Amino acid sequence: MTGTILVAYATRYGSTREVAEAAAATLREHGLTVEVEAVRDAVVGDRHDGVVLAAPFYVGAMLKDAVRFLERERTALERLPVALLACGPLSADDDIAAARGQLDDALVKLGWLQPVAAEMFVGKYDPHHLRVADRLLTALPASPLHGVGARDDRDWKAIRAWAAALPGLLQAAGGPADGQRLSA
Ligand SMILES: Cc1cc2nc3c(=O)[nH]c(=O)nc-3n(C[C@H](O)[C@H](O)[C@H](O)COP(=O)(O)O)c2cc1C
Repeated sequence: MTGTILVAYATRYGSTREVAEAAAATLREHGLTVEVEAVRDAVVGDRHDGVVLAAPFYVGAMLKDAVRFLERERTALERLPVALLACGPLSADDDIAAARGQLDDALVKLGWLQPVAAEMFVGKYDPHHLRVADRLLTALPASPLHGVGARDDRDWKAIRAWAAALPGLLQAAGGPADGQRLSA
C-alpha cells in the first residue's frame, strides 16, 4: 500500500471540481498523497487505498457521470473505503434536508456501496451560464430553480472540516496506515 487517495469528481459547471480540490488540499495537509481526477478519466488502481467521490445532484439524482464511474469501477471500489461528497442545494437552510433525501435515495439504489462517510454540501448556481437543456428546464414555472438568481454559498469551512475527518475514517475502514502518511 502506498497511502494514495483518489479524489474523483463529476461536474457539469465546474463547482464540484473546486470542492473536490478543496477536499484534496485538506487531505494533503493531513499527510496523505492525493490524486484528483475527473470521473471520466479516473481508474481505481492497486496504488489507491481509498476513494473520495465528489458529485453534484441534478433533478433529484446523482450526476450520471458519477454513477457510471461507480458502476465501471465497482469491483475495485468494493474492496476499498469510499467517501461520498455530494453537492447541490443552494442554501443550507430550506433545501438541505430535501437534498440529503436525494443522497439517501441514491445510496439505497447503490446498495453495494457502503461509504465510510456521505455528506451533502451546498453547491453553486449561475442561471447565466447554463446549457440549453438546463436553461429550458429552469425556465419552467414548476422548476424549483425558476427565477432563482446566481448563488454561491458553498461552505468551505464545512467542506474542509468534513475532509479533515476522512483520514481517520478511511484508515479505520482499511485505508492508509499511519506510517504511510507523510506527516501526522
Ligand atoms: C437544472 C438544474 C437542476 C438541479 N437539480 C438539483 C437537485 O435536484 N438537487 C440539488 O441538490 N441540486 C440541484 N441543482 C444544483 C446543482 O447541483 C448545483 O448547482 C451544483 O453545485 C452544480 O455542480 P457542478 O457545477 O459541479 O455541475 C440543480 C442545478 C441545475 C442547473
